[in-house]
Amino acid sequence: MADLSTTYMNIPMKNPIMVSSSPLTANLRGLEKCEAAGAGAVVLKSLFEEQISHDASRMIGGLDFDAHADAYDFLRDSSRDYYLNEYLALVEKAKEKLSIPVIASVNCVSAGNWTEYAQRFEAVGADALELNIFIIPSDAGTDGSEIEKEYFSILKKVKKQVSIPLSVKLGPYFSGMAKTISELSKAGASGITLFNRFYRPDLDIEKLKLSAGPVLSVPEEMGMVLQWIALMSGEVESDLSASTGIYDGAAAVKQLLAGAKTVQLCSSLIQNGTGTITEILDFLSDWMDRKGFGTIADFNGMLCQERSNRPEAYERSQYIKALVGIA
Ligand SMILES: Cc1cc2nc3c(=O)[nH]c(=O)nc-3n(C[C@H](O)[C@H](O)[C@H](O)COP(=O)(O)O)c2cc1C
Repeated sequence: MADLSTTYMNIPMKNPIMVSSSPLTANLRGLEKCEAAGAGAVVLKSLFEEQISHDASRMIGGLDFDAHADAYDFLRDSSRDYYLNEYLALVEKAKEKLSIPVIASVNCVSAGNWTEYAQRFEAVGADALELNIFIIPSDAGTDGSEIEKEYFSILKKVKKQVSIPLSVKLGPYFSGMAKTISELSKAGASGITLFNRFYRPDLDIEKLKLSAGPVLSVPEEMGMVLQWIALMSGEVESDLSASTGIYDGAAAVKQLLAGAKTVQLCSSLIQNGTGTITEILDFLSDWMDRKGFGTIADFNGMLCQERSNRPEAYERSQYIKALVGIA
């Protein structure tokens, strides 16, 4: 029978299927369900840099800052500690109860003071920390390289605080995607998760107001992830983890063939239940047996661009009749 064990960021894992940061990993019950279904690792729901500062300002909103300068500092710090402590308690409990790797996650937009707290994730036993960074490039006066510098700066600042592996979870919107991934790898990201999927606003044309767009991905969204995993997995030292639109065993196998070290699931589990993890593992194991692969390493990255006999096909952006049948 196939051996599904692997490593991600040098962390041993019993299989490459992870549950990504989401409501499924926001509490101990959810985490235990993921482990029971066979997950190889879990990324906890993110602690939000924004959420902490928003709450801090709400708590201190009614104070006269001149008269209560000390109280301001106290409330700001205790509020931050409240969220942080709750989160650290979850990491600690998860480490106590689960036997799979537990990856903490911070959703951040700046290399601000929060980075000084990063070592506390390590102190409570997190196996790694995923930095979910998204800086909306909506300021017309800021050019791309300035924004990218902030990504590198966050990574470097956090890296100074911790010795556990760090991964960076990116969105798909960079004009210099390959360079950004490559620079993050050089700056010491042990893992890079491609891609985060963002909340998309929609408009309600009857009520004439803003509404929420579709929260969950669809399987068709996986193609872009597959392309970038295939393009970059042979190029960088960092381990790549595939996220977005992975709904079944065949999709997971494709990402592993393209070179992803792990595959992360979220929407498919919210939609179809955590039993999907078990189904994907069964598919993977059967497929490996059928293809004569004894270990994940036997085929991991086999179809990445670097090892492809048609490397140019991964960089094709226009439809060509000979390839797709219609044009
Ligand atoms: C309701 C919901 C909450 C999420 N919360 C987080 C989060 O806190 N941190 C994070 O890094 N990603 C978060 N994500 C993104 C997922 O981890 C995942 O990267 C994304 O949904 C794409 O994968 P999927 O197609 O398997 O859903 C969230 C996704 C959903 C649907």
